[in-house]
Amino acid sequence: MAVALVLMMILQWSDAYQEAAVGSPQVPAMFVFGDSLVDVGNNNFLSSFARANYYPYGIDFSGGPTGRFTNGRNIVDLLGALLGLPYVPAFADPNTVGARILGGVNYASAAGGILDETGQHYGERYSLSQQVLNFETTMNQLRTMMGGRNLTQYLAKSIAVLVFGSNDYLNNYLMPSLYPSRDIYNPPAFANLLLNRYATQILALHSIGLRKFALAGIGPLGCIPNQRASSRAPEGRCMDDVNQMLGTFNEGLKSMVKQYNADHQDATFVFGNVYGVLGDMLNTPDNYGFKVIDSACCGIGRNQGQITCLPLVVPCSNRNQYLFWDAFHPTEVANAVLAWRAYNGSPNDCYPINIEQLALI
Ligand SMILES: *[C@@H]1O[C@H](CO)[C@@H](O)[C@H](O)[C@H]1NC(C)=O
Repeated sequence: MAVALVLMMILQWSDAYQEAAVGSPQVPAMFVFGDSLVDVGNNNFLSSFARANYYPYGIDFSGGPTGRFTNGRNIVDLLGALLGLPYVPAFADPNTVGARILGGVNYASAAGGILDETGQHYGERYSLSQQVLNFETTMNQLRTMMGGRNLTQYLAKSIAVLVFGSNDYLNNYLMPSLYPSRDIYNPPAFANLLLNRYATQILALHSIGLRKFALAGIGPLGCIPNQRASSRAPEGRCMDDVNQMLGTFNEGLKSMVKQYNADHQDATFVFGNVYGVLGDMLNTPDNYGFKVIDSACCGIGRNQGQITCLPLVVPCSNRNQYLFWDAFHPTEVANAVLAWRAYNGSPNDCYPINIEQLALI
């Protein structure tokens, strides 16, 4: 009950707040790297089948459909609201120029992964390495427009949020008919490949000047409607083998955070335990007001998870009672739980410190 009340408060105040873009932000900017969980419309400008700029996506967003893969705001919208930031614009949007980039830029791209080839059957997408190159483009723009401000200090105070890895499983490793990775790597070896590539790009961002990093782990993908809808899934159960596969990546990412905090005294890295927080919502749905955790609000077939949310499909009306919006993505209310626990949670939710503490550094 208390949790649900806090959630409704976040959902209500922050919408008006973010629209007005007032207040004093806790950090100068937020730079977002990732996949569809945090894409705010980059793929609208790419030649991709992974798009969400049509109704009913955005049914609860003040501007309607925008390319966000949920009914309302996504995790970084809500995190931005908690940090007092206005909406962070999509890099690929031609309007993302001038003073609009000063509060940060979002590079996230649906179907994108840590590996360049991940998600290629969807068409164009910004992979992690391309997102880092795009950040360098922003840096060139920032250098010419910082005026009297010190770019080094601005970057050091800003927060980088990285949300990667889900597609390297869903749209690569778990698709052996299209991608060879499963023939080459066993699950721990694949996780270590991802971690090595991830580490290289994180250090590249550090060398450019970012100093505050929030790295999200992968959620329990075996429990999303898309996986529950697979022919291998036992009725009413998650795909346990898929969930188990993610352990090496999530534990490795947390270890990387510990290691980098020790190695880089000038920077702070935190690990967001998405697996644990989503697991709480799945295990104790009543605490969050969820009535449906195994089926998508918008979708078709078994668990409404066989196909993603298609144009003009009528979604469920009680969206605050659903954990999943479509076959892959949480509802706005579930995103609010994830954002709130990352911002304000215990070290079990966000390690070793939460985003509110990270912002204060
Ligand atoms: C910006 O700040 C950094 C760190 O405080 C300092 O080393 C550097 O000299 C400053 N640069 C300018 C152009 O003032």
